[in-house]
Amino acid sequence: MASTKKSTKTKTSSTKARSTSRSSSSRSMDATMFLKKEHDTVEELMARFKKTTAPKQRMNLSHRICNELTVHALMEERSFYPEMRRVPEVADLVKEGLEEHGKVKQLIAQIEPMEPSNARFDSLMQQLEKDVKHHVTEEEQEMFPKVKKACERDYLMQLTKTLKQTKTAIKKEMKEGLMPGERRVREDVAMEERARR
Ligand SMILES: [Fe+2]
Ligand SMILES: [Fe+2]
Repeated sequence: MASTKKSTKTKTSSTKARSTSRSSSSRSMDATMFLKKEHDTVEELMARFKKTTAPKQRMNLSHRICNELTVHALMEERSFYPEMRRVPEVADLVKEGLEEHGKVKQLIAQIEPMEPSNARFDSLMQQLEKDVKHHVTEEEQEMFPKVKKACERDYLMQLTKTLKQTKTAIKKEMKEGLMPGERRVREDVAMEERARR
């Protein structure tokens, strides 16, 4: 469950713990930093895709982009959004995020089986880039600052470990072909959201 700063008994001890962990583990990332790093990877791949003209390379890059996005979205839906929906400051942004994941997944489902020679390939990839950029901007500029403000640093550091474990599990499932209906927004998450409205 999300550990918010409001639940901390003393602000002094929390601040102290924060500065200690920063100096002792500068290589560690909190969950928002970890997710941002993943966003940067996709952004780099998209930039490479736009510069590439060889059809085979374009197809390989588009597959990599779709794969990275699928794993990232599932990881957020399994281990980040369910935690963040308990943080009142970002609960609405989680709802919006899930809807945007749904749109991105629909685009991925159209792009993945397509050859770059298909007349719609370029416009779908452009739409994907536009939608992902919009979603990432919202997460990084609206959601993450609120998360950092509302949640304890130790909790967010721990959440990174959970996200990494979830990512490993998802990759294994995808490799084994055990991908359930999560190419859509997870139905259990979506149902919970509908029940809340
Ligand atoms: Fe994200
Ligand atoms: Fe997301």
